Amino acid sequence: MPDQSRLPRHVAIIMDGNGRWARQQGNPRIIGHQAGVRSVQEVVKCARELGIKALTLYAFSTENWQRPGSEVENLMGLLQTYLESQLDKMLQNQVQLRTCGRIERLPPKVRQILERTMAKTAANDGLILNLALSYGSRDEILRATRHLALEAAQGRLQPEEITEELFGAQLDTSGLPDPDLMIRTGGEARLSNFLLWQLSYSELYFTRVLWPDFGREDFLAAIGDYQQRQRRFGRTGEQISDREQE
Ligand code: FPP
Repeated sequence: MPDQSRLPRHVAIIMDGNGRWARQQGNPRIIGHQAGVRSVQEVVKCARELGIKALTLYAFSTENWQRPGSEVENLMGLLQTYLESQLDKMLQNQVQLRTCGRIERLPPKVRQILERTMAKTAANDGLILNLALSYGSRDEILRATRHLALEAAQGRLQPEEITEELFGAQLDTSGLPDPDLMIRTGGEARLSNFLLWQLSYSELYFTRVLWPDFGREDFLAAIGDYQQRQRRFGRTGEQISDREQE
């Protein structure tokens, strides 16, 4: 088990590799997404049991709308079934559901169940499960910028009042700590428009394991790796060791 005193507070995951996993077995991509839901359940359970504060999962990007209509429909269906089947468990386990991204672009049925689940779990004080849906980081940053520009244009805000804190508070992740650890499965080493502002100082962990094969052991391995790292936030290694000894 990982060292409880140095757990990441917030873990963010790019769940990649569902399509390849299915193709390797000669199956359609959707079979990979279905298997991916099982990994979601396992990782959520593990994060909750460890006492991690927040888990952000990149479930659907702004770019994913360009996939074939049948795949988009299938993913929306899986999301809906997942939410319907997990509500009782979320309530029992104090999981609070949140989202980031433009959920108004999702089909009305999915949006409704998301909003209902968020309302019902809003008071839960265990794991915050943050689903990135119709999410793109550049889109999120632009929305925040437009909002602040409007405030300034209307005279309610002076440009010099725009600090990192004020800007961060306009993002969809407002109120969440920045991720300490970002995991990407599936072998690619890129960020794919995910939390570009929030990941500025995160530790990045890339694994070749395809998302449907990613389970408890892999999640614990990523956390173990994170715990070996020295986070310097621009300082020197000596400064950090001195601070740890204080
Ligand atoms: C990337 O794999 C994965 C996605 C675009 C969707 C992730 C969705 C799930 C895991 C299931 C639904 C989520 C929830 C929260 C219930 P890919 O299709 O790009 O894989 P590939 O790179 O191998 O083609």
